[in-house]
Amino acid sequence: MDDLRQKYLDLVAGAADEATLEDIRLQAVGKKGEVALKMRELGKMTPEERQIMGPKLNALKDEINAALAAKKAALADAALEERLRGEWLDVTLPARSRRLGTIHPVSQVTEEVTTIFADMGFAVAEGPQIEDDFHNFDALNIPPHHPARQEHDTFFMHRDEGDDRPPHVLRTHTSPVQIRAMLKQGAPLRVIAPGRVYRSDYDQTHTPMFHQVEGLAIDRDISMANLKWTLEEFCRAFFEVDEVELRFRASHFPFTEPSAEVDLRCSWENGQLKVGQGDDWMEILGSGMVHPKVLDASGVDSTQWQGFAFGIGIDRLAMLKYGIPDLRAFFDSDLRWLRHYGFAALDMPTMRGGLTR
Ligand code: PHE
Repeated sequence: MDDLRQKYLDLVAGAADEATLEDIRLQAVGKKGEVALKMRELGKMTPEERQIMGPKLNALKDEINAALAAKKAALADAALEERLRGEWLDVTLPARSRRLGTIHPVSQVTEEVTTIFADMGFAVAEGPQIEDDFHNFDALNIPPHHPARQEHDTFFMHRDEGDDRPPHVLRTHTSPVQIRAMLKQGAPLRVIAPGRVYRSDYDQTHTPMFHQVEGLAIDRDISMANLKWTLEEFCRAFFEVDEVELRFRASHFPFTEPSAEVDLRCSWENGQLKVGQGDDWMEILGSGMVHPKVLDASGVDSTQWQGFAFGIGIDRLAMLKYGIPDLRAFFDSDLRWLRHYGFAALDMPTMRGGLTR
């Protein structure tokens, strides 16, 4: 009986899986197992022998069953351990990035510009893209028959025959938002107005729809010096360089007096633009001191208030900063172009986090 005991305990200890354990169980304590066969022999024994052998066989059966159960539990534990090791996941790992489209350079630059001016205390103002004659021209000191109206290559909205009110237009610049902001908020005022504008023009650097950002600061003693500082500060932040040099060139806009066009010192080295150094100048914006007639047309008393305004081409800024050669491609919706020049979604520019990554 000791041999039998040792044989099965060894077999149980060496079993590698549950199926083997079941085989061992049948072979040992199953109906036709070795222990059962031994129990049948009890019938042929004398009562005395049976009294000794009966309990011994029962104890052996219990011991083997207990060993089987313990081994089964141990095997299940080991299997669970193994599975947990295999399915282990480090939830602190960064997510694998998946591109959900890209941000268009115009959107990116608009965000960058807005962020920089917001940091200087400018709020965002808005106006409609279909604008009336008053806001787009008249209030900006561009009366009917003024030559500036021709220079704007304006798209006019349809008017019924016999209706001779001035037609609405697709706004030719963001300057009408100056008027709307002053009429609505009065002075003092500090706003920028990014948005779409329209002119009938088409070549490598002109498209019939493009983007501008208007700037307007009105207070009691704002001067050209404030304008120059603001624009220099903006260019340094936008082009992400320590030094920029701006050149103010006398110019003319009906709605500013004096007026200046502003050029940025730069250089072109094998097709690459460098801002802040070199012998070239790149025109980037129009600006000036808001004309008293514009203030008065907007309900702001020009004997009490004065201020500066500027208008920057957003698409032009995007081309300069990101080295994009042809403006027309901006609006072709070519996926390959967007993937190349686009920006990662959710990577929004902030002054603290940086504009571009
Ligand atoms: N509106 C002018 C343009 O589109 C730019 C400008 C804005 C000039 C504000 C002076 C002041 O060309």
